[in-house]
Amino acid sequence: MKWYDIMAPIYDKAIRSLYLPYRQKLIQSIQLQPGQTVLDLGCGSGLNFELIIDAIGPQGTLIGVDFSAKMLMRAQQTIDKDCWKNVFLLQQDATKLNIKELNIHSGNNIRIDRIVCTLGLSVFPDWQLVFEKSFNLLEPNGKFGIMDLYNNKRTFQTRMVNFLADSDISRKVCEPLQKISANYIEERLPLLHGKEEVIIATGNKL
Ligand SMILES: C[S@@+](CC[C@H](N)C(=O)[O-])C[C@H]1O[C@@H](n2cnc3c(N)ncnc32)[C@H](O)[C@@H]1O
Repeated sequence: MKWYDIMAPIYDKAIRSLYLPYRQKLIQSIQLQPGQTVLDLGCGSGLNFELIIDAIGPQGTLIGVDFSAKMLMRAQQTIDKDCWKNVFLLQQDATKLNIKELNIHSGNNIRIDRIVCTLGLSVFPDWQLVFEKSFNLLEPNGKFGIMDLYNNKRTFQTRMVNFLADSDISRKVCEPLQKISANYIEERLPLLHGKEEVIIATGNKL
């Protein structure tokens, strides 16, 4: 069983309020427009969904991709509760993402305007490959947004975070975006109740 299948029942309670302000900031900074198509990479239980749907409206499309069936079950419950008809979930290893599969699942000839990845790149085992593949899926001038944790010190606390999240928060997860994108913007904020930094970064595909 995958780690996040085990964590799914407690994930929302543990995470929701802690990261909400950073999610809001990220979603604001990718400047979503009504009708756009957004890919939420490693969407987990769907904690970004409401913020995205509020911005893209019913004409927009949201596709959530995640490896963990149990996290996606939680995401599906939120979709059902809110009766969203324009949110599609795909259970897949993000290293295997391709446009054909996304089209099959969203029932559209999609053009991806925005990609968000929150607390994902510090977790995906092949995070650089995931970034490269997904960035390639973006439409020209599309925006990629990252929100993730960073602390490169090896303390008891960082070890605990890495253990609980099955992550490596010493990764410089925004570097590939910084190298490849135009209009790169990065903000580092202190994590409330923690010594880690939360990095929020966006960049456009040329
Ligand atoms: C810390 S959670 C973040 C979930 C969500 N993005 C959020 O902000 O709450 C990391 C997520 O990455 C997913 N994940 C890990 N490896 C993956 C992979 N190779 N492909 C797709 N999803 C993966 C996990 O199942 C988990 O739901």
